[in-house]
Amino acid sequence: KILILDFGGQYNQLIARRVREQNVYCEVVPFHLSLEEIEKKEATGIILTGGPSSVYAEGAPACNPAIFDLDIPILGICYGGQLMAHHFDGKVSKSEKREYGKAALKMKAGSPIFKGIPEDVNCWMSHTDFIERAPENFTVSASTESCPVAAMENRERKLYALQFHPEVEHSQMGKEMIRNFLYEVAGAKGTWTTENYIEEEVARIREKAAGKKVLCALSGGVDSSVAAALVHKAIGDDLTCVFVDHGLLRKDEGDWVEKIFKDQFKMNFIRVNAEERFLSKLKGVSDPEKKRKIIGNEFIYLFQEEAIKIGEIDYLVQGTLYPDIIESGTDTASTIKSHHNVGGLPKDMTFGLIEPFKYLFKDEVRNVGEELGLPDEIVWRQPFPGPGLAVRVLGEVTEEKLHIVREADHIVREEIKKAGLARDIWQYFAVLPGIQSVGVMGDERTYAHTVGIRAITSSDAMTADWAKIPHEVLDTMSRRIVNEVEDVNRIVYDITSKPPATVEWE
Ligand code: XMP
Repeated sequence: KILILDFGGQYNQLIARRVREQNVYCEVVPFHLSLEEIEKKEATGIILTGGPSSVYAEGAPACNPAIFDLDIPILGICYGGQLMAHHFDGKVSKSEKREYGKAALKMKAGSPIFKGIPEDVNCWMSHTDFIERAPENFTVSASTESCPVAAMENRERKLYALQFHPEVEHSQMGKEMIRNFLYEVAGAKGTWTTENYIEEEVARIREKAAGKKVLCALSGGVDSSVAAALVHKAIGDDLTCVFVDHGLLRKDEGDWVEKIFKDQFKMNFIRVNAEERFLSKLKGVSDPEKKRKIIGNEFIYLFQEEAIKIGEIDYLVQGTLYPDIIESGTDTASTIKSHHNVGGLPKDMTFGLIEPFKYLFKDEVRNVGEELGLPDEIVWRQPFPGPGLAVRVLGEVTEEKLHIVREADHIVREEIKKAGLARDIWQYFAVLPGIQSVGVMGDERTYAHTVGIRAITSSDAMTADWAKIPHEVLDTMSRRIVNEVEDVNRIVYDITSKPPATVEWE
């Protein structure tokens, strides 16, 4: 196990993913974790991350320096490396201006970190402070034009530092450098694989919950679907999945989810068909926030009803992911996200949680899903908002409007898939802005709906850019939608980024 001490750098989760990709398990912990806690983790290696601070700044984040004496291999990256240099009386200085971008690495032969790496690679720098002089007993293993100490090491004590960021794509061979630290220095075995994970987790869940009553709210999304499949593998019919179909799903989605889990996986699967109930609650409501609230409340209410029918449950399955629970090095305790948000079940219900992905990243969950035999359409499903198409029909939601947006959305998705763009585009869908405009079809004047196409690229939906879909693909979508969907005569493409717009239109 590798321990990653988080000093608040922007790439910290990326480091964790890089380590996991090398089949090595790691955990991200705040930099101030006590020595005792660190020792308890029995790590075979420690990585100190980058961070925005300067080691000389007042109150600069620092780990207990005794970790350098634990005889555990340590790799310090950027700030982490500076901290190491500072601790051993090297010299850390402030450069005139922030160095940001690529730099050519000049390596000295013999460092285990650079084993098998060609001599002329570029690394990615992002720092203001830099190590000007390595401490005594450390050797400089690489430099760049502006960094005399781009890498340093004390091989005997297994201490290594890099000024650049091997975890980002722009650092050539960066993955290999991390791999070298893990395997050449820290003696990793490479046992962190999807197969091993599934095997161990299945055993764990079985031991905990076999013969008990376990409930899972299935939405058809990646996390809840993979969680359900995994728990089902462990305890079979002791698991009951409840799927509330609010009638705001995409074309044929409800049937499709049912088919996969009920027919293919043979799960104990309850589908609650509640389209009418949702539509009647939404009647006359056009305020987006009110719509969201109504849908959220109704959803919880229906789920509760089912849960109560099942009787006393012992465990609830949640698809919580690791990024939701990582306690960042710079967050204060109060800003840590609550990961015990159990979807609004009645407060007096007492049950435990099964959160099989509490320590996994999204891409690892996808690997688990693939390994468990879930179809690509689920494993690689694009994010879809809980309130569904209701936030893509602007204003009041009616059956007719839902029909238009659903058919148009279906075409958008088909064409993206045909063009082979599905994995490059974060989200892509149709919206119905509720505008009608004049058009002409045959010899006749029409007055019909406008459909908007929205497609974005993003890595986390916090910020997004509109996707540069090839014009031919947009053209096909447009033609097909006006031809195949009744009451539509105009198509527009949304070319705003987030910010200032949002991904959804409501
Ligand atoms: P916005 O529109 O806020 O969307 O830029 C950011 C991401 O969140 C999704 N989204 C939602 N997901 N319930 C959800 O579960 C919601 O009410 C909701 N609203 C937006 C959106 O699809 C995008 O991925």
